[in-house]
Amino acid sequence: MTEEHTNDVEGLIELEEILPEENEESSTVDMAPGEEKVFLLENPCTQRLIHSFTTHRMPWVLLDKKLNLLWRNDAHATVYPEFKPGDNFIAYFYKYLGEEEVGHIYRSILSKEQGYSYQGKLEYKTVERAKIIANITLSPLFFDPDGKDTPTGFVCHFDDVTSDIQNILQQTFKSLLEASKLKDNDTGNHIERVNAYSALLAEFFFRKRSFPQIDQDFINDIRFLAAMHDVGKIGTPDDILNKKGPLEPWEWDIMKEHTKNGAFLLSTYPNPMAKEIALSHHEKWDGTGYPYGLAEEMIPLSARIVALSDVYDALRSKRSYKDSIQHEGARAIIEKGIGSHFDPRIGKAFLELDKEFDNIYSRLADS
Ligand SMILES: [Fe+2]
Ligand SMILES: [Fe+2]
Repeated sequence: MTEEHTNDVEGLIELEEILPEENEESSTVDMAPGEEKVFLLENPCTQRLIHSFTTHRMPWVLLDKKLNLLWRNDAHATVYPEFKPGDNFIAYFYKYLGEEEVGHIYRSILSKEQGYSYQGKLEYKTVERAKIIANITLSPLFFDPDGKDTPTGFVCHFDDVTSDIQNILQQTFKSLLEASKLKDNDTGNHIERVNAYSALLAEFFFRKRSFPQIDQDFINDIRFLAAMHDVGKIGTPDDILNKKGPLEPWEWDIMKEHTKNGAFLLSTYPNPMAKEIALSHHEKWDGTGYPYGLAEEMIPLSARIVALSDVYDALRSKRSYKDSIQHEGARAIIEKGIGSHFDPRIGKAFLELDKEFDNIYSRLADS
C-alpha cells in the first residue's frame, strides 16, 4: 500500500485487507512490524502519554496503525480484561460494533478531513458481566520518522456512559409507573417486592446456569422492570378496578385488557422485557392463562418469573376483597400450581428460596 492511498476509499479497502495480516511489512513507515511497535512504544512522546495515563481512571489504550493493541492502562485492563495486548481492535470488537460501524471507523481514521480520528459508541457485554456502554474516541499519533502526514498509531479512550444512559432509561420507565400508581390500588411496596422476588429468582438461575438467556443484564433489567407488570391498568375503568365484590364476566374481560394495554404503552420503550412482562404475566404454563393462552416456553421467561412473584405477593397481601395469607399457606398454594400455573423450574426454585421470599415480604411490608 502506498502512502497516497491511505487518504481515500481505495486506501480503506487496502487497509481492511492488510489489517488481519500480522506480519506484512509496513509501507507508510519503512520498518518491520516488530520494529514499528518498539519505535512507537519507546518514542519519548508515547512514553509521556503512557506515563500520564497509566493510572488514569478512564480506560485508555495505544494502538498501532493497524489498530493492534500495543499498550493499555490499568483502568482498561480492569474494565475490558479480555481485550489484550496483541489483539486487533476491530477483530475483537467487531461483533459489538457491527459491519457498518467498522466501515465508518476505517473511513474516519483514513480521512485527513476527519482528522484521522473517530468518535462513536461501543456496547460491550459478556455473559458474566453487565453491558458496558462507552463513548470511544480514536485519535491519531504522528511519530513517523520520515515526517509523513499519516498516523503511525492511535490512542483510544473509552468513556463509560452506562450509568448515565441507564438512569435516563429508568427515569422514563418510572414516570409511566408513577402515573399508573395513581390508578392502581396496589401499593408501592407490592411493586418493590415483586421486583425483589423476581431478581432473587433470576440470580438463582444465573448461579445455576439454568437458562442461557439469564445474564447480568437480565438480572438488572428484571430488578426494575418487574414493577411494570400492571401499568396497563392505567386504561382500566375505575369502577372495575376498585369494585369491592367479585367481577362479572364482562368486567373480567375488560380487566384482562390491562395486559394488552400495558404492552401497547410499552411498545415504543427501548427494553423489550418491559413489554413482555406487561403482556404475559397472566399467562399460565399449561396454556390456560390470558390474554393469548400461551403455554410453556412460548411465554417469555421474564413474564414466567414475574407471574410467580406477583401471585406470591398477592396471596400474602390483604386486599379489599380478601385477607392476607401467611407464608406457609401461600407456599402451599404456589406448590400446587407448579406445572399448571407456573413453570416447573421456577416453581421448584421458589420452593428452595421460599424463606427469602418471606424475608423480602417482611422487609418491604406495607406500613
Ligand atoms: Fe396484572
Ligand atoms: Fe401485581
